[in-house]
Amino acid sequence: MPIPVYHVLHVTAIILMTAITFQSCADPDEGKKRKRMMLGGIAAFIAFVAGFGLLAKAEPSIGWPGWVIVKLICLLGVAALSGAVYRSPSKGGTFSLITAVLVAVAVYCVYYRPF
Ligand code: HEM
Repeated sequence: MPIPVYHVLHVTAIILMTAITFQSCADPDEGKKRKRMMLGGIAAFIAFVAGFGLLAKAEPSIGWPGWVIVKLICLLGVAALSGAVYRSPSKGGTFSLITAVLVAVAVYCVYYRPF
């Protein structure tokens, strides 16, 4: 597959996964949990696979630099928070803030590549 296809899949899936996490934080309704967890999981999986596809295709000799590990942690964090908010519905605001910080850190890492 051409590299732009991986980019489109990666960025689209990240945007949708983040949207689902914010949606869960704003309205942690148990009745909507199952559908959101399923869609969020699919989006996280696509983002993950496309991210490693990009790593292999766009940066074949880069290995596993620190910024990739940090992005991986951010991805797992955003995915986990969408489920965690159903266990602590009153913490939606805090979880939204953490989600925003994780996304900002991941975007910073891909553009600045600090390590
Ligand atoms: C919350 C998590 C993540 C966010 C917000 C995020 C965001 C982005 C964005 C916006 C880009 C496009 C950069 C550009 O081409 O201008 C990108 C590219 C990329 N991402 Fe992610 N990403 C995340 C997770 C991951 C993960 C888990 C991996 C695992 C390998 C990954 C690997 C990559 C790679 C290799 C590129 C391409 C860099 C290049 O074109 O040279 N990302 N990411």
